[in-house]
Amino acid sequence: MDILHNSGLSRAQFGDDFEWGVSTAAFQIEGSHDADGKGLSIWDVFTARKGKIKGAHHARTACDFYNTYTTDIDLLRELKIPNFRFSFSWSRLLPNGTGVVNQAGIDYYNKLIDYMLQCGIEPWVTLYHWDLPHALELKGGWTNRDCITWFTEYAELCAHHFGDRVKNWMVINEPSVFTGAGYFLGIHAPGRRGLSNYGKALHYVTLATGAGGRVLRRLLPDANIGTTFSCTHIEPASNSVRDVAAAKRVDTLLNRTFIEPILGLGYPVADLPVLKNLSKYMQPGDIEGMAFDFDFIGLQCYTREVVKASFFTPYVGAKLIPAIKRKVPFTEMGWEVYPETMYHILKKFSAYKGIKKIIITENGAAFPDTVVNGAVNDVHRTKYIQDNLHQLVKAKNEGVKVDGYFVWSLTDNFEWAEGYHPRFGLIYVDFEIQKRIIKQSGHWFRDFLSENKDNKNEDSLRYTGHR
Ligand code: NOJ
Repeated sequence: MDILHNSGLSRAQFGDDFEWGVSTAAFQIEGSHDADGKGLSIWDVFTARKGKIKGAHHARTACDFYNTYTTDIDLLRELKIPNFRFSFSWSRLLPNGTGVVNQAGIDYYNKLIDYMLQCGIEPWVTLYHWDLPHALELKGGWTNRDCITWFTEYAELCAHHFGDRVKNWMVINEPSVFTGAGYFLGIHAPGRRGLSNYGKALHYVTLATGAGGRVLRRLLPDANIGTTFSCTHIEPASNSVRDVAAAKRVDTLLNRTFIEPILGLGYPVADLPVLKNLSKYMQPGDIEGMAFDFDFIGLQCYTREVVKASFFTPYVGAKLIPAIKRKVPFTEMGWEVYPETMYHILKKFSAYKGIKKIIITENGAAFPDTVVNGAVNDVHRTKYIQDNLHQLVKAKNEGVKVDGYFVWSLTDNFEWAEGYHPRFGLIYVDFEIQKRIIKQSGHWFRDFLSENKDNKNEDSLRYTGHR
């Protein structure tokens, strides 16, 4: 099948109000880690530690977005992508995390936002995409309950400076991933380990999510306020009672632990007994403090996991069977290519009464991309996105309130502990010379978005002919 011209998808199937975009995060693209008064973040420090990042990669330059933002936004415009999700770097705005404000940081984001608006691109901002100011880590970071207060100060600052132009906000990005990897396993910044670090971070981040939502609502009553969660379709490896129970615990950990308290349901202790430990950190009023009535929930889904019971894994008693062992197709991250996850996840989360609206704030894939004659024919990524969109539209047609889809990511970028090897972009980046090449997936996305009657202009027709 000619996937470029015959995907079986049309933008119209998703409706006129459906939000289309791409997502990024400050640390993964900006670089300029100490420019113009920026303070260090936990990721600046973590990437400098030996053996933490594959290939000893760091993000001191990354995609150089701090300097190239106008040309990258121009590319976004060329791709006809109407919404751009990015995050503020907390330590660029507040170098010590709290207190003194860095005016150069405020100026930078003002310029970025103004340029986007001038180009007709709507900003979608994440307040926290994992890059805690290092100065706060020295005081315990997310394992210190005071972090909730530091975070609300930062949220107030952002609302105050940017809220006149930014209408769409996300409070926290994927809490389960950064607390699990950064505070339990120690494989992400800040490299803490163990149940006590994890428990505190989990609880304080959850409280900060509710608190951040309330700050934004108070200061920006008309804003569209959300927060994002990673989600994974979970299946047991067999029908055995043990595997089914193990799959339930993993599902609880990965899909329910962080969202349920936000929805006012408390922690799902009954299905994951280790969560009882959290009562140590609870204070009166926390159940109410964690809850917030978000306008939308951002879901970020990439894959499915198949789970087997295991005595050797503490707390969850389960292990994940990697895609390679299951002999199914997988991406550069080792994640199974399983588009049906999109459908299952949408059905699952839409069953929560408290969710008003879902936006897929991330979906995408890393595949080995090669430049041949100046072009990147990333057919696997193009197909991955199309297949996911088919699943999304299937759920939408069954009544799921899903109103947006953002590809991860605009450009290849710094993939945390994996360094630069996994490439997720619609646009290829040659990191040596900071050159960009729009990949086939980017061209396809542009054509797909251009089908809309408002955009069907000469330009897009000329482009199709040109290719
Ligand atoms: C989730 C995270 O939000 C983002 O930072 C990461 O790069 C992508 N998924 C891909 O792993």
